[in-house]
Amino acid sequence: MSSYIIEGGKKLEGEVTVSGSKNASLPIIAATILNPGITRLYNIPNIHDTQITLEILKYLGCKIKKINGKIEIDSKNITKKEIPEHLMSQMRSTVILAGAIIGRFKEAKFSYPGGCDIGARPIDLHLAAFKKLGINIIEDAGYIICKADEIKGENINLDFPSVGATENIILASIFAEGVTQITNAAMEPEIVDLAKCLNKMGAKIEGAGTNIIKITGVKKLKDISYKVMEDRIEAGTLLCAGAITGGNICINYSTPEHITPILNKLEEAGCKININTGKVYMQAPKKLKAVDIKTMPYPGFPTDMQSIFASILTTAKGTSVIIENIFENRYRYVSELKKMGAKITTEGKTAIIKGVRKLSGTKVKSTDLRGGASMVLVGLIAKGTTTVTNIEHILRGYEGLEKKLKKLGAQIYIDED
Ligand code: UD1
Repeated sequence: MSSYIIEGGKKLEGEVTVSGSKNASLPIIAATILNPGITRLYNIPNIHDTQITLEILKYLGCKIKKINGKIEIDSKNITKKEIPEHLMSQMRSTVILAGAIIGRFKEAKFSYPGGCDIGARPIDLHLAAFKKLGINIIEDAGYIICKADEIKGENINLDFPSVGATENIILASIFAEGVTQITNAAMEPEIVDLAKCLNKMGAKIEGAGTNIIKITGVKKLKDISYKVMEDRIEAGTLLCAGAITGGNICINYSTPEHITPILNKLEEAGCKININTGKVYMQAPKKLKAVDIKTMPYPGFPTDMQSIFASILTTAKGTSVIIENIFENRYRYVSELKKMGAKITTEGKTAIIKGVRKLSGTKVKSTDLRGGASMVLVGLIAKGTTTVTNIEHILRGYEGLEKKLKKLGAQIYIDED
C-alpha cells in the first residue's frame, strides 16, 4: 500500500488544470457497449476506476486502444454478457455496466457491486426500475441474472433521485420499445454529459439535467468521438486545497456553474472568487470563517465535497455544522483528522467542527476516496510531516493529485511500499 508524505506549511500559488470527470467517464465508457462499432473518447482520466471499467469491457470482448489521451473502444464483438465477481467488487459503479449490457443484449449477469465503504449502498432502485422495463430478475448464488424478451418503455418514478439508477435506466432503455420516462430523476451534470454523448450517438434523450427525463427508443447507434466533461469534484478539491493554505490559485475549469454551491461556501468562508473564461481564481483570507453545510442532490452541495470542506473548516474561525443527507456513513475520516488535532464531534448525520489554531502532522489512514483527500488537505497545513497511508482509495478517483498540488507549491510525494 502506497502513502503520501506531506510537509505542511506551504501556501499554494499558481495555476492547474482540472482533469476529465470520473463520474461522467464511468457511465460514458459503459455507454460505448451499446454501439456495436467504434467510439472515441477524449478527456477520460487515467485513474483506477476508469482502468477497472476498461478492463471489464475488455473481458466482455471489446477492443481498446489508447492513443495520445484518446481511448478508442471497439464494441463490435462482445462475446460475454457476464461481469465476474472479482471485477464487479472493485467499485460500485460497475453496476452501470449492467444497464448497458442489458440495453444491448436484453440480458446480463453480475454480482452486487463494491466501492467506497461510506454506508449501505443498495441497488434496489436500479433493480426495481429494470423490472418496470420488463426485465426479469433472478438472484442465484450471489449473482443477479437479468433477462428480457423485450425491453418496454415505461414511466419510472424514483423514490430518491439516485445518480446511478438514473444512468442505468437511461442505458437500459436506449433501444426500448416506446418511451421511457423517469420522474424524480437525478439532475447531476454527469447525467447531462451521458445524455449528450448518447444523443450524439443517435439516441433520443430529452430533459437530462431536469427531474423528468424522456428516452424514446431508437433502433441503432452510430460511431462518434466525444470529449468528457471536467471533474467538478476535483475542481472543488483543488480550490479547497488553495483555501486551507491561505493561498492564491487559479484552476483551468470551464464550467463554474457546476460548482456554484462550492464557490458560494468558499466565499462565505472569506475567499475571493473571480471567474474569467475558462478560469476560476481563488484568493483565500489569512484565516477562513466557519460555515454550515448540508449535502443535497444536485444542484445542492455535493456529498463528495463534504469531507473536503470539513478539512478546510478544521482551522476556520468559529464552529461549523455539517449535515450529511446522502450517505449514512460518510464520517469515517473524522477519527483520522482528530489524530492531527482537529476538534470534530459527530452524531448521526451531523458533524460539528470547532476551528483550532494548529494541526500536527502524523500518520493517518485513508478511509475512502474523498475522506482520504480530506487528510491530504489537512496535511498541507499541519505542522511537520503527515503520512497518509492506503492512498489506493485516493488514486481511484484523482488523476495525479500530488503532481497538481506540487505544481501549486505543496511539498508532497508518493512513497511506494
Ligand atoms: C454517485 C457518484 C458518487 C456520489 C453520489 C451522490 C458515481 C460513479 N458516483 O454515486 O460519487 O457521491 O452519486 O451524488 O457517479 N440508493 C438506494 N438505492 C439504490 C441506489 C441508491 O437506496 O438503488 C441510495 C444510496 O444508498 C445513497 C443515495 O441513494 O444513500 C444516493 O446514491 P446514488 O445517487 O445512487 O449514488 P451513486 O450513483 O452510487
